[in-house]
Amino acid sequence: MSGGVHEGRLRVELGERGYDIVVGSGALGGIESSLQEMHQVGARRAFVVVDTGVPEWFVDQLVADAKSAGLQVIIAPITPTESVKTIATYQELLTTIASTGHSRVDPVIALGGGIVGDLAGFVAASYRRGVPVIQCPTTLLSMVDASVGGKTGFNLEVSGESQVPNGDGSMKLLKNLVGAFWQPSLVIADVDVLDSLDDRQRRSGLAECIKHGMISVGVGHDGLLDWMIKHLDSIVAFDSAIIAELVERNVSLKASVVAQDEREDTSKQGGRMLLNFGHTFGHAIETIGHLSPTADPSLAPLHHGEAVALGMVAACRGAQVYGGVDSSVGDELCTLLQRVGLPVGVEGLPANEELVERMSHDKKATADSIRVIFPTGRGRCAVVDDAPMESLEAGFDAIRG
Ligand SMILES: NC(=O)c1ccc[n+]([C@@H]2O[C@H](COP(=O)([O-])OP(=O)(O)OC[C@H]3O[C@@H](n4cnc5c(N)ncnc54)[C@H](O)[C@@H]3O)[C@@H](O)[C@H]2O)c1
Repeated sequence: MSGGVHEGRLRVELGERGYDIVVGSGALGGIESSLQEMHQVGARRAFVVVDTGVPEWFVDQLVADAKSAGLQVIIAPITPTESVKTIATYQELLTTIASTGHSRVDPVIALGGGIVGDLAGFVAASYRRGVPVIQCPTTLLSMVDASVGGKTGFNLEVSGESQVPNGDGSMKLLKNLVGAFWQPSLVIADVDVLDSLDDRQRRSGLAECIKHGMISVGVGHDGLLDWMIKHLDSIVAFDSAIIAELVERNVSLKASVVAQDEREDTSKQGGRMLLNFGHTFGHAIETIGHLSPTADPSLAPLHHGEAVALGMVAACRGAQVYGGVDSSVGDELCTLLQRVGLPVGVEGLPANEELVERMSHDKKATADSIRVIFPTGRGRCAVVDDAPMESLEAGFDAIRG
């Protein structure tokens, strides 16, 4: 990355469960004083779940800081894929943490992308009925989204003979079906670690930023979409100062939405559910292993952010059929995604019937209807509880490559 430095501190206002989010270049350095405070109230060890994709210098820095704070450090490495985000890995982590004598005041530290953050967060939520967790996200996606808000968990594997159609009898992953809300004590988003992230992972994170832009006006962050469009060239070039500001602006939106609706209250018809824009369509295709964002099969399977990008396009086009939202909303989204290098179409999509069936297994579906988030205008979305079949099918048809 190139450019100047930007640093900020935000707070998720959740009363006694409230916490700070530190964003900026060199932000990880601040962890030592937080760990010292934990040490003063009895913490003796840190259980660090480390994503093997994180550069060594960053892991070394965290370990040195934790040791300086007086803590013994136990490292649990994970090479993250969606098929590793399962009960088997969760069980392994629990077995390891239990063997270290980890107490109720000892912290778990998640150092990695969203998969590590979700797994480590759920270990913290459930071990001894809950221990503190510090989220140190190392991908753009986990900085702007996964590390904030306390959603933790893993994917559930079900056999192909279950209700979920699979065809080849193999195991199928139901995304994030098991988990808990467990707010971190602190989030540290040190943008220096993003230097080693490959282009595809960077773009994947930008998909969640664009998602925030698509709901921004409706949740009181009016300027976000226009700010991103204005700075898009610098964002795509990954200019460090702009990326730090991008992270801070996106975290600010997520923090305010979470503060108003901590547990995604389904009776609110808004709030946290709006953050699922693009996700119900996206989740339906995310775990189909052969799908590729372009005609290049080497890019299969889809990354989470790519599936979200496609899901947002499908939602916009479906909303045109459902509620007559202006096509300019979807057109602007497609232009933005294409400028960033994200897909607006996908090769090899199964039949609509299977896709809709997969949607109904997404945990955002209600008992007997499929809940989707549809745009209602520029920067505004709404929850639709009973989307008609033709609008869902129109959505999938629009992204069929
Ligand atoms: N809890 C939530 O609210 C929430 C929100 C959004 C997404 N998620 C979850 O997050 C996951 C996706 O997260 P992700 O996009 O971070 O993917 P990921 O966790 O799979 O990480 C992507 C890749 O980047 C590598 N990596 C991590 N940090 C790196 C670095 N600094 N340099 C180089 N490589 C690095 C990882 O090893 C991995 O190969 C999904 O499982 C999704 O369900 C959770």
